[in-house]
Amino acid sequence: MMDLSSVRRAYKFYAPIYDLVFGRIVEDGRRRAVSAFPQNPGDKILEIGVGNGRALRYYQKHVEVTGIDVSPEMLKVARERYLNACFPQVRSLLQMDAQALEFPDNSFDGAVAMYVASVVPDPAAMIREMFRVCRPGAPLVVVNHFASPRGVARRVERGLAPFSRRLGFRPDFCLENFVQTVGCEPSRITRVNLGGYWKLLEFSGWEKPFLGGNGSAMPAPAGNNGKGRPPPERLNNGR
Ligand SMILES: C[S@@+](CC[C@H](N)C(=O)[O-])C[C@H]1O[C@@H](n2cnc3c(N)ncnc32)[C@H](O)[C@@H]1O
Repeated sequence: MMDLSSVRRAYKFYAPIYDLVFGRIVEDGRRRAVSAFPQNPGDKILEIGVGNGRALRYYQKHVEVTGIDVSPEMLKVARERYLNACFPQVRSLLQMDAQALEFPDNSFDGAVAMYVASVVPDPAAMIREMFRVCRPGAPLVVVNHFASPRGVARRVERGLAPFSRRLGFRPDFCLENFVQTVGCEPSRITRVNLGGYWKLLEFSGWEKPFLGGNGSAMPAPAGNNGKGRPPPERLNNGR
């Protein structure tokens, strides 16, 4: 089981070598995830698990990107990379937990999580928060590796699964379970990176669901009044 302290520990270790290990190999997915957004002037886009900010260069200069991450070491690299340089699209880089975002409802025109869903301890909470903080119908993009259905890759992923905490990600992260927790089908799934081993999921045209683990969209929580996070007990509902 992943938890926030094992995530922080893993990415403290990776921060100085991240580009070397996870840089170019999955760059195609980053580029394609960003280009999945219409990027109208002034659009506010949230990047979940922004890491060392590798993807920030792909946004157009007329949008406003907010990046969040739990790893101070990864964020430090991102800040050095972008806030001192001339990247007007980078609005802010904040230390924050993707599972409990500190933004009001409907704050963003889109959100993206690149290679985060298999890292975050509770991916269902992460995706619910992404829907919550975006205006209804906004583009939501998730790019990730998902467990292989068969063959050698499946055996290797299963063999590595017990080491998830040390690796800093779950190699056997299941697409079907993830989509079920989202509660609405992606509008498009595209294979990306080396031989299509990773997948890019796009959600668009959705209505405001707060999502249960049973695959059904739930109505917005009562008493939330469209401001702030839904009460925690509703966030936990149906996991
Ligand atoms: C594999 S890295 C991906 C970084 C970046 N998105 C990229 O494309 O290179 C996963 C990132 O997710 C972050 N992360 C994991 N769990 C998180 C959480 N609960 N809240 C915010 N960030 C989280 C990690 O700290 C790490 O920087």
